[in-house]
Amino acid sequence: MALGKSEIQDLYRKRARNYDISANLYYLIGFREAMYRRLAVAQLGLQPGDTLVEIGCGTGLNFQYELRELGPTGTLIGVDLTDAMLR
Ligand SMILES: C[S@@+](CC[C@H](N)C(=O)[O-])C[C@H]1O[C@@H](n2cnc3c(N)ncnc32)[C@H](O)[C@@H]1O
Repeated sequence: MALGKSEIQDLYRKRARNYDISANLYYLIGFREAMYRRLAVAQLGLQPGDTLVEIGCGTGLNFQYELRELGPTGTLIGVDLTDAMLR
């Protein structure tokens, strides 16, 4: 069953405070999150100067990999439903 907008916001407002820390903890059980993020961004085939919109960007854990590809002339726009994740 799909969650509605307010249910998603409730869920991620609760998770926002510890989101970055808990994402990094996956490393302890062998999940190479940073590597998967890098590989996912590489698959986008971004070029310097491109504009990228990440829908559901959360706290921005992909941004460092995306910005590296976009370079100083590129534009990155992060969009998220949950205010606390963006903060
Ligand atoms: C699992 S988190 C992933 C965050 C980030 N992309 C990352 O890789 O760490 C999912 C995010 O998607 C957002 N989200 C879920 N549905 C959305 C929608 N319809 N529009 C925008 N953001 C949405 C949530 O608020 C949450 O921050």
